[in-house]
Amino acid sequence: MVKKLCVLGAGTMGAGIAQVAAEHGIETALRDIEDEFVQRGLNTISKFIGRKFEKGKISQAEHDQIIARIKGTTSIKEATEGVDMVIEAVIEDIDLKMKVFKEIDDLCPKDVVLSSNTSTLSISKIASATRYPQRVIGTHFFSPVPVMRLVEVIKGEKTADFVVAAATEFCKHIGKTPIIAKDVPGFIVNRFMCLLYNEAANQIYAGLASVEDIDLGLKLGANHPMGPVEIMDMAGIDVVYNALKAMYEMTGEERYKPSPVFEQMIKDNHLGRKTGKGFYNYSE
Ligand SMILES: NC(=O)c1ccc[n+]([C@@H]2O[C@H](COP(=O)([O-])OP(=O)(O)OC[C@H]3O[C@@H](n4cnc5c(N)ncnc54)[C@H](O)[C@@H]3O)[C@@H](O)[C@H]2O)c1
Repeated sequence: MVKKLCVLGAGTMGAGIAQVAAEHGIETALRDIEDEFVQRGLNTISKFIGRKFEKGKISQAEHDQIIARIKGTTSIKEATEGVDMVIEAVIEDIDLKMKVFKEIDDLCPKDVVLSSNTSTLSISKIASATRYPQRVIGTHFFSPVPVMRLVEVIKGEKTADFVVAAATEFCKHIGKTPIIAKDVPGFIVNRFMCLLYNEAANQIYAGLASVEDIDLGLKLGANHPMGPVEIMDMAGIDVVYNALKAMYEMTGEERYKPSPVFEQMIKDNHLGRKTGKGFYNYSE
């Protein structure tokens, strides 16, 4: 049972994970490399929790307790002190992740579970930076963390069964549904999502269908709550392109080769909602 958690990286995912853990009674240390980044993460959490209070979903006392459970810090030593589990959510860079895992492996007693929120990188490779690879696992949360219910639990080559059990129990405890995935590029869900995005982009590129019709088709014909094009604009065209590029490089499979449409959009700064234009136009 995880009573105290450390989350490394106070960005989109780290802040979301820390929030959900604190909402479920877990003392959480949130660590980033600069005070400014820690504060940004804490502000995001505070805004989310504040909105829940305003909507009457939680009481003032619950609001205050959740906020009090999260301690922001830039010190990795302080963040890892007395924790049962560490979740790493730093940027997607294998060298950085291996460096961070070596650091936490040195700092944490060997029964502390060390987990990565990586979307694409190999858990076994990350674990190879540690002395105790059996305690290293993947817990892949989805964005936005407070809303999305799934976590892919990824077993590396050397991950021990008790670590899989502990990570699974942790996910359930914080209200998520875990599924066990193999340590392969894209795990389970992104292998599907990448294909969907690429197919949509290729259809648009070849003039086979309009942006609107693709989304309507998938929503009304396949019962998807959102169309793939809408999702790409929300996630960011650069983010989708990088995910596909990584999948293509790792698998060598043509089906993941990024559609030419992405490169042109990136050149034009049509990155989706964040720049006001992606496949759709958001400027009006
Ligand atoms: N954004 C998504 O939709 C999404 C979904 C699932 C998984 N992921 C994965 O989660 C991880 C984090 O993604 P994100 O979108 O939150 O990124 P982000 O850029 O929003 O946040 C990353 C944070 O890590 C911090 N950081 C860098 N080095 C650090 C270190 N040594 N110690 C502590 N913090 C450090 C950065 O300052 C930044 O605040 C990545 O591995 C990403 O692939 C992202």
